[in-house]
This record gives sequence, structure tokens and C-alpha cells, in this order.
Amino acid sequence: MSKPLRWGIISTGGIATNFAKDLLTDPANRSASDVSHVIKAIGSRSVPSAQKFLDMLSSADAPADWGGKNGSLDGCKAHGSYEEVYADPNVDVVYIGTPHTLHHRNTKDALLAGKHVLCEKPFTLNMEELDELIAIAKEKKLFLMEAVWTRFHPIMYAIQDVLFSGKLGKIKRFQADFSMNFNADKQPDSHRMVDPALGGGSLLDMGPYPSVWAMMTLFNHPSNNKTPPNVLFTHQTIYKRSNVDLNSRWLLEFPGLGGVQALLTTDMATLGCGEMTALIDCEEASLAIAWGPFKPEKFWIIPHIARKSGSITEKTEHSHPVVGNSGMAYEADEVFRCLAKGKLESERMPWDESKIVQGWFDQVRKEGTSALKDMKGTEGQ
Ligand SMILES: NC(=O)c1ccc[n+]([C@@H]2O[C@H](COP(=O)([O-])OP(=O)(O)OC[C@H]3O[C@@H](n4cnc5c(N)ncnc54)[C@H](OP(=O)(O)O)[C@@H]3O)[C@@H](O)[C@H]2O)c1
Repeated sequence: MSKPLRWGIISTGGIATNFAKDLLTDPANRSASDVSHVIKAIGSRSVPSAQKFLDMLSSADAPADWGGKNGSLDGCKAHGSYEEVYADPNVDVVYIGTPHTLHHRNTKDALLAGKHVLCEKPFTLNMEELDELIAIAKEKKLFLMEAVWTRFHPIMYAIQDVLFSGKLGKIKRFQADFSMNFNADKQPDSHRMVDPALGGGSLLDMGPYPSVWAMMTLFNHPSNNKTPPNVLFTHQTIYKRSNVDLNSRWLLEFPGLGGVQALLTTDMATLGCGEMTALIDCEEASLAIAWGPFKPEKFWIIPHIARKSGSITEKTEHSHPVVGNSGMAYEADEVFRCLAKGKLESERMPWDESKIVQGWFDQVRKEGTSALKDMKGTEGQ
């Protein structure tokens, strides 16, 4: 095995907590004997906050207590700025878990300081920001990846196996949804789902998840030959208090799959169906994916209505749990493996696929009327 990958964590919010804890789980529990992660630096906007985060990691419960007991936090520094992490010689790769509108600036700063980067979804606010980051990564020969963890979950491979084997016949229709009730009325103006300056609204926060299912099952279907879909229709409903989108809808058409249509929806004020997050209707049966879209652990193959058509007659349930971590360690393992092979991008989360999804978000945003419609990014700054 190569030497441990040395991580620096930027920000100390909700998702950075989950990610850092997963780095501290035992890779053997997920049968990943070829990887090793250590955390060497925490960057926050204040030293006390960074120290609090480090203390929390040091006293984490199982399964993340494995890392503390096995030296994964040895020598970890709590920095009161992000810049100190970028400059830390003990850090190989920076994980960025700040609000969306800071992703470009933080990633650019880390790349320019010579660090590899794993950046949370949505990668950037717009395509211009993303293009600039990819150009810097190429020029400086640094690894760069959007942290779409769902791509690396066991269930994603299992669903691709079923669909790509052809046993369900051709895909006819697709729909995927991410709906949750964030109780926006009860949140402060500064909440990142409410504040336009932080990229608030449902599209950028929740949109990556219906998108990941469309990308992994339709775009990556062997019959599609990686043909990008057309966007046929977009719609956003506006949350009047702060003018961000309450919900977004966009309809895709995949010419490479004979015109299969995919309806993608997000909603931050409605609880979706607790049982199901995506439905893929195929010639022989339908494949339904359990909630939530970010980390489902089972899917069903369901016969057609009244079983009058299609060769599949029995409903079956297929369970593929995340094991030994809360689901974020798999993407970290991908970063380890790519760097061990000297790659600049992941084949399972390539830059071009981040760009396709970013293009959908740009179009939905620009065709809507939210405060983000004409918002400028920080590209070039
Ligand atoms: N992969 C997933 O499933 C997943 C899930 C949730 C969120 N996310 C993504 O992760 C990012 C962060 O989400 P989160 O839920 O972790 O957010 P959060 O809990 O609000 O944390 C964001 C952190 O960013 C830092 N920050 C820097 N400037 C900030 C500012 N002006 N306002 C607020 N925070 C600021 C803060 O850390 P310091 O004070 O330490 O600097 C803060 O704790 C978002 O882009 C989101 O889309 C991904």
C-alpha cells in the first residue's frame, strides 16, 4: 500500500463533520485494504472552532473512533484560516465543505497553493467557475473531483449492473426527485438554503441528486455512447421571502437512448415519498430506487401493471447497504486510488460529467426568475 493520504479539511459544518468522521473509520470494514487516510489539518474561520472540531473528532464514537486509536489524527493542526491549510506542508489533498458560492474561491486557492482538491457538490455556481478550476488543475497537474459520494456507493454499481445487463430491456422513461422540508420560514436569513448570496434554494443544493441518478443510469448506459441529453423544459417556483427557488423541475431527453425522457425535480418545502426517490421504467419491468437519493440502500424490480406485459412477474427487493462508515469514505478511497495512480481526474466522476450537470443547473437558473438568475461567479478573481 502507498503511504497514507494526508487530508486538510476546510470548514467545520455539517457535511465536513460527516466526511472527516468517515476518514477515521477502518477501511477494512468496507473491504478497502489498499487505502489509508490521515487528517493533518482543520481549517476554520476561527481557531476555537477548528479546535472544537478537532476535539470532536478525537473523541468520536464508533466507527470513527478507529482513526484516533490508530494514529490518523496524530499531529493534526487546528488552523484559524483556510489559507493556513493550503500552505500546510503536511497536507496532500484539501476537502472543501463550505457553502456553494465559496467552492470556486476555496478550490482555486487550494489548487494555486499546490494541493489536490475534493470539493463538495454543487461543484461551482456556474460553468465559467468550473472551467477555470479544471484549467488550473490541468496546468498545475493536480487532482480535482466533485464530491458526489453517491457515485461510489455499492448500490450504484448494483443498479448499473442490472440496467446495463439488458435483463430489464430498454429503458423507456425515468424520473428522480429530491424533496425535503427545510422549514425555510423558521430559518434565519443567513441560512445557506435561504440566503441567495450563499447559493440558496433547492436547485443547487438538492439538484445534484436526481442528476446523479440520471447521469449514472442513462448517460453512462452503454447504449447511450456518452451522448449528452437535451434540456426540453425547465421551471422554478420562487420563495418570495428571499427570492431563491423553492422547487425546480427540468426535463431531459436522451437522443442516444432513442429519446428516453427524464424528469428531474427538487423541492425544499415538501416531504417527498418516504419509500421511493427514482423510478426507471423499462420494457420488462420497472426499477424503483429507495429514498434518499443521496444514499439509498435498496431498490426494487417491479413487474408492470397487472403483469400483462414484460417478462418479469415477481417483485424483488435488492439490498446494498453502505458498510463501516456513513457513506463518504468511498469517495475518499477513490481520491486515494486516483492519486496513487497519478491521475488528475476520476474515471467514475470525470470533469466532463460535472460539466454536464453544471450546464443543467446554469440553464434552469437562467430560465428562472430567482435572485440567482444572473448572479456572477468569482471566476477570474
Ligand atoms: N454530499 C452531501 O451529501 C452534502 C450534504 C450536505 C451539504 N453538502 C454540501 O456541503 C456544503 C456545505 O453544506 P453544510 O450543510 O455542511 O453547511 P453548514 O453546516 O452551514 O457548514 C458550512 C461551513 O462553511 C463554513 N463557512 C465559510 N463561510 C461561510 C459563510 N459565509 N456562511 C456559512 N458558513 C460558512 C463554516 O465553517 P467554519 O466556520 O469552520 O469556517 C460552516 O460551518 C454545501 O455546498 C452543500 O451543498 C453536501
